[in-house]
This record gives sequence, C-alpha cells and structure tokens, in this order.
Amino acid sequence: MRHFVFDAYGTLFDVHSAASRYRDAIGAQWDRLSQLWRTKHLEYTWIHAQTGRHVPFWTLAERSLDYAIAATGGVPAGTRDKLLSAYRTLSAYPEAADVLQDLRRAGARLAVLTNGDRGMIDDAVAAAGLGGLLDEIITVHEAGVYKPNAAVYRLACERFGVAPDAISFQSSNRWDIAGAKAFGFRCIWINRHGLPDEYPDMPADLIVEDLKPLTALAARS
Ligand code: LAC
Repeated sequence: MRHFVFDAYGTLFDVHSAASRYRDAIGAQWDRLSQLWRTKHLEYTWIHAQTGRHVPFWTLAERSLDYAIAATGGVPAGTRDKLLSAYRTLSAYPEAADVLQDLRRAGARLAVLTNGDRGMIDDAVAAAGLGGLLDEIITVHEAGVYKPNAAVYRLACERFGVAPDAISFQSSNRWDIAGAKAFGFRCIWINRHGLPDEYPDMPADLIVEDLKPLTALAARS
C-alpha cells in the first residue's frame, strides 16, 4: 500500500480533549457532555446528508454542543466558547506524528479525508504540528455531502489518481469503516477503546488498537 487516507476527528485528533481541558469548569458531567456532543455532532451530519441539506461541520459542532450543554444541566458562563475554541486545536493522539513520519519515510502518500470544514481542519493540523506530514487534506464539502456517502470516498481516489483498492483507509469510527469498505477501500479500524465489532457485512480488513502498527505495514509494502 502506498496511499494512506486518514479520518481526522477521533482518528488523528482526540475529540474528547476539548472537554477534558475544561473538566474542572464543567464538573462531573464533563465526560457525558463530551460523549453527547460527539454523538449528536455525528447524528446531525447523517440527518443533513439524508435530507440533502448540507450545513458546515462547524455549525453542526455549535448546535450539537448547545444540545449537549442543555442536556447535561448547563456550563459556567464563557465555557461554551472555550470548548468551541478548543475544538479547533484538539490534541492529536500521541503516536500520530511519528507514524505519519514513518509512513512518509517508507514512501507512502498521505491524506486526511474529513467531515471537517477546511478552516477547522487546517487549524487542527497546524496546532498539532502535522502540516508538513500530509500530502493532501480533503474535506467532504468538495462532494457537498457527509460521510458515509460514496461520493466522499471517491474524492480520495480522484485526488491520488488510484483505484479504491489501492487505498488504505484508517478510521476509529466503525460506521466510517463500513462506508469506506462498501466503497472499496482496504480498511483499518483503529479500535482504541476495545469496542465490540459491528456491520458484519462491511468488515474492516484489519483491527488495531492505535496507529502504531501502520509503520510495519508500510515498511512491508
Ligand atoms: C471526520 C469525522 C468522522 O473527521 O470525525 O470525518
């Protein structure tokens, strides 16, 4: 495999690092708030995709955060805006930069394929120092629809000029792996939290606990 395409949020970047930074201000509910924020954010992408109403990912981040705050009893004044700012500078997972570097040294071409708006993902990539390691940053907005629509995954083939089965796709989102597998990518599910497997008709080709095993895969190819 010479072409590696990565999901961003949850795969390279820890979406829960935003609420974690403000856990003292939020209180005991911080983890529930963060989980709800993420769950609703994704649900909103699916509903907007299904109803043909394309709305920026940032707008959906705001709406889903407002829902999560309301559902968990509120946060102190100013915390909402701090959480949104933190979402633009999420922490990358600790091994991400080294693995991307190893893949590049092995001659691979690397891309991010994300639901995020271009400004959001540029901010996150820059804050995590990953900018020089990626050949391409592709956002779903070029297709005008969210994952897991096939038009989104097709963007990566077009950008690299290769067939689906020439691309190794990495995501920690099992539903994203299902969509990418249905499209025809070779899929690696990054199952950091030991979650049960799903979508048996759209299986991952490989399941790993973090990004580190990719280095060995690239070296072998
Ligand atoms: C992304 C979402 C799935 O980065 O987190 O595309």
